[in-house]
Amino acid sequence: MKTKPRLVVTRRLPPAVEARLERDYDAVLNADDRQIDADELVRLAAGARGLLVAPTERVDAGAIERLPGSVRIIATYSVGFDHVDAAAARSRGIAVTNTPDVLTEATADIALLCLLGAARRALEGDRLLREGRWRRWTPTELLGAELAGKRLGIFGMGRIGQAVAKRARGFGLSLLYHDQRGLAAAEAQGARYVARPEELLAQSDFLSLHAPATPATHHFLNAARIDLLPAGAIVVNTARGTLVDDEALIDALRRRRVAAAGLDVFENEPRIHPGYLELSNVFLLPHLGSATVETRDAMGFRALDNLDAFFAGRVPPDWVNR
Ligand code: DGY
Repeated sequence: MKTKPRLVVTRRLPPAVEARLERDYDAVLNADDRQIDADELVRLAAGARGLLVAPTERVDAGAIERLPGSVRIIATYSVGFDHVDAAAARSRGIAVTNTPDVLTEATADIALLCLLGAARRALEGDRLLREGRWRRWTPTELLGAELAGKRLGIFGMGRIGQAVAKRARGFGLSLLYHDQRGLAAAEAQGARYVARPEELLAQSDFLSLHAPATPATHHFLNAARIDLLPAGAIVVNTARGTLVDDEALIDALRRRRVAAAGLDVFENEPRIHPGYLELSNVFLLPHLGSATVETRDAMGFRALDNLDAFFAGRVPPDWVNR
């Protein structure tokens, strides 16, 4: 009988995913879901042929350098792979794979939830009830911003940006987007291409971020760019926290230069900037974009499909550093 490849799994995964892992791999699971740092990862990797990691582990060049030669593949349980130094892995001949497609719909849903939560003051409404302060229906209470007829600017028109655009059309928003290039009409979902990010900002009553975290997008939304937004704009981020300069956004939210924000991702998760917690015009979620039963299973199966292909000598479908 063929021996099963040894695989280190850094996080507790959904039961159906762990069942398949245990069936097909000599899997080192993380039953108590403790945080595994780079030193422990390197230690656990002794004799392993692959790692299944998550965005909570930083697998930087230093960690990759110290991995034993037995490790040939790092599969991440995420579409974003900014936490893995894919170039460093490549230079050691280690394949890196991710899990695109399967979380597109769930993440687009959360972007709309963030937009609605911010625009319709969901946090304040919820608090009013829980704190027993709601006296009666009032014509002037907690008035928010209507979606229909406003302009939604989408920064980053990949799979998730497109899925957001598709949903946003149903809310009567008019759509524009910026990406490195314009898309074919079928993919653009009726959104108008804007060649310069600055033009996008100037026309976005609502701005939704969907670009990956790269050096080029680091703190994309800084004070100077926030100043380009129409007065009272609403900002949504379900991509990566590093796209936003927190100090600048918090300052703009305090001054109501930006009316509200809906945020699912943060720089330095889980230690989010405390300034957000003091603001009632921010609708916050703890990185729930892909958090549905269906999607989290699908992410695990997609990661396993990549690992299975790799160990069967085939090209993994989502090999990002080939
Ligand atoms: C990803 O897959 O990159 C997400 O952020 C996890 O939901």
